[in-house]
Amino acid sequence: MLLGLTLVVLSFLRFSVNAATVCNGNTQLCDRSYGNITYVGAHDSYAVGVNNLAANQDYNITQQLTDGIRLLQMQAHNNSGTIYLCHTACELYNGGTLLDYLKTVKTWMGANPNEVVTLLIVNSDNLAATQFASVFVAAGVDSMSYSPQSASLPASGWPTLGSLIDAGTRLVTFLSTTASFEAVPYLIDEFSNVWESPYNTVDNTAFQCQKDRGTGDISTSMFLINHYLDTEVLGNPVPNVAEANVTNAASGPGSLGEEVAICAGLYNRYPNFLLVDFYEYGGGSVFQVAATANGVTYTGTVATPKPTSTSSSGGSNPSSTNGGNGNSDGRTNSGFGMATLFTVCCVTLGAFSVFI
Ligand SMILES: *[C@@H]1O[C@H](CO)[C@@H](O)[C@H](O)[C@H]1NC(C)=O
Ligand SMILES: *[C@@H]1O[C@H](CO)[C@@H](O)[C@H](O)[C@H]1NC(C)=O
Ligand SMILES: *[C@@H]1O[C@H](CO)[C@@H](O)[C@H](O)[C@H]1NC(C)=O
Ligand SMILES: *[C@@H]1O[C@H](CO)[C@@H](O)[C@H](O)[C@H]1NC(C)=O
Repeated sequence: MLLGLTLVVLSFLRFSVNAATVCNGNTQLCDRSYGNITYVGAHDSYAVGVNNLAANQDYNITQQLTDGIRLLQMQAHNNSGTIYLCHTACELYNGGTLLDYLKTVKTWMGANPNEVVTLLIVNSDNLAATQFASVFVAAGVDSMSYSPQSASLPASGWPTLGSLIDAGTRLVTFLSTTASFEAVPYLIDEFSNVWESPYNTVDNTAFQCQKDRGTGDISTSMFLINHYLDTEVLGNPVPNVAEANVTNAASGPGSLGEEVAICAGLYNRYPNFLLVDFYEYGGGSVFQVAATANGVTYTGTVATPKPTSTSSSGGSNPSSTNGGNGNSDGRTNSGFGMATLFTVCCVTLGAFSVFI
């Protein structure tokens, strides 16, 4: 009797410590190491807008996560002492505070308890890890953040998705500079853990799988491919939304599917992170590519691309900008908007370099 009860209690405990049976939408992913999975990432995830040269996405991060984005990349800037997510400069595109952004991520993750989400913070102004940590604490996402056992892990050293979910540490954050394992272990150094392929590609035959940035071992570290196409406007690279269907496609010249297959051939394993612009172009093809890499079936749906004035007006007049509110759809239609954007660019930034 006592033994029977003990067994019941034990099996209950056993069940409760290993609860997750569906991880990131799939039963087959729970037992897989975090470092052995391919995730789709939104490049400049906060830079949302239509007909805005500084926007890389049509939809806000809530919709991105709902549609299947599992890595959110962002650029952090010091805006009068507060961390904001801006594109190149806050005068050019201001996507709001990191605090509000993290609260939005937390809300979505609260409603989706079996999902592991990754943040990639480009630390544009080299702010201290402790400054980021105070925002993580204020947003209440520090306690759901994963702290690795050591500052850098090989791809194979990461826990399984199931164990991250069971432990309640489902948020994995990489910081591009100033990470300090001693001070803030959950703000993980990006480049000793993840290497990246080149970015700012303007020719869709030029996507490459070579290491461009990163200090880790190319054959054992996780890796990220920058698969978004830019076009030159007044000598500056801006997102090429007109080609996004081709760039994001599952197959064909210049497609994400093609590059992923080439990388897998070179390194004998798939990339971990596929960073894209306007992820919903292709009607879910980017998620299809990741599912194929993961050996699972994609059954999701995505939002519909928002029409641009160039595609709806037959490509005559490239339009406008929404000035920089990341929450706005900003579909205005004045040539003056574009002129303003370039005035801001040129006056504020002088010979400013890149929209990375
Ligand atoms: C995000 O976008 C969705 C539509 O895709 C909208 O319903 C929602 O209100 C937006 N959320 C915020 C915080 O703007
Ligand atoms: C952030 O900007 C403010 C002024 O805008 C400046 O006083 C402060 O030193 C900056 N902080 C860092 C860490 O650069
Ligand atoms: C992208 O593909 C969709 C669906 O096939 C189509 O409706 C849309 O016009 C295409 N957009 C561009 C810019 O080619
Ligand atoms: C995961 O492991 C399988 C089996 O070794 C491999 O084929 C695949 O490329 C790996 N994926 C990633 C993203 O490491």
